[in-house]
Amino acid sequence: MINPELSRIREGSTDVFVYLHKTADKGPGTKTGLPFYNPTMKLNRDSSLLIAQWFIDTQDQPIRLLDGLAASGIRGIRFANELTGAFTVTINEWNEEAFSLIQKNISHNMLESVIAVKGNVHRVLADQRFDYIDIDPFGSPASFIDSAMRSITHNGILACTATDTAALSGVYPKVCLRRYGAWSLHGFLMREIGFRILLGMLCREAAKYDKGIRPLWCFSTDHYFRMYVQIVHGKRYVNDAMNNYRIISSEELPLSDLFSKTLVGPLWLGPLHTSSVLQTCQSMNLSLHLETRNQLVKILDICGEESLMPPFFYSTDAAASLFKISPPRLITVMDQLAQQGYRVSRCSFSPYGFRTTAPQKLVQIILEKA
Ligand SMILES: C[S@@+](CC[C@H](N)C(=O)[O-])C[C@H]1O[C@@H](n2cnc3c(N)ncnc32)[C@H](O)[C@@H]1O
Repeated sequence: MINPELSRIREGSTDVFVYLHKTADKGPGTKTGLPFYNPTMKLNRDSSLLIAQWFIDTQDQPIRLLDGLAASGIRGIRFANELTGAFTVTINEWNEEAFSLIQKNISHNMLESVIAVKGNVHRVLADQRFDYIDIDPFGSPASFIDSAMRSITHNGILACTATDTAALSGVYPKVCLRRYGAWSLHGFLMREIGFRILLGMLCREAAKYDKGIRPLWCFSTDHYFRMYVQIVHGKRYVNDAMNNYRIISSEELPLSDLFSKTLVGPLWLGPLHTSSVLQTCQSMNLSLHLETRNQLVKILDICGEESLMPPFFYSTDAAASLFKISPPRLITVMDQLAQQGYRVSRCSFSPYGFRTTAPQKLVQIILEKA
């Protein structure tokens, strides 16, 4: 029986009806019998609007967007209402009550061209091809990736959320091995490694179908990973992508004395972002009035900075615990490396993190003395 507390809320410039769940301010939210809505995922949805608009603007043909796991339908309804250009939106959900809510929200917004489907997303993906597929599950996206890879068109975008960050980040290594076929690692690099394990799984799943991956934008918040990855068809692209798919030793990592000696991965060692896409998204973000605009400005800025940097970051607080010193100032360390002619950037995974092209030994010396 549905709790009757249906509320009208506004996200972006779209009004929708949702059931307001009692969730903490932060966190992935919990599964209940009611159609799901998590206000803290606003930033996640806002980011998808930026990428989808970039995508529509750069294509010659109308774009077919799928909100595959839609709950209240808010993401797909926002696509239909707020994006401009040539595109169609399909919104799918298998839960009866959620599907009724989607229909209500579509008619409330008078969106005649949106297609609402009540079904299993695997079936929808088997029956149709899409240019943009959004997979926003409870927990892990792993079980949806194969179906999405079959459906996605050449150059299409797979947008994916993972809230099982604990499994990916070494808290539950057996779960990570089962779901993602990879060895995770606990410690200061765990979030980046977790993200790269997720991308590695995507790379391998794409390769089965002669498709390669090209990450456009990957970011993490306290409780989820979010990625936008372009899927390109052709052996050359697959081989390029698979060159970035490897198992590594923890001894190869920055400040490796903090980790026990172990194998990590397989994981994705290639770029996490495409800087030109981030620049366009930032310009769009600055011209829109999204509620999460300022947070997005920061995320896009840091992701842009790190987009051309090598994988794996150093951290001043991790260095402090390794060298038993008080944490060096991030800016001091970054300045010293830059003065020595190395490239250096902040890092989206940690406020204490930085990336650099400098050799590990030199970075360690500077961290110890700074
Ligand atoms: C986390 S919620 C989606 C949240 C939504 N995207 C948003 O932005 O508010 C996941 C939804 O996926 C639905 N779902 C799970 N597995 C599904 C499947 N195989 N086919 C269709 N819907 C599914 C669930 O009923 C649930 O409503």
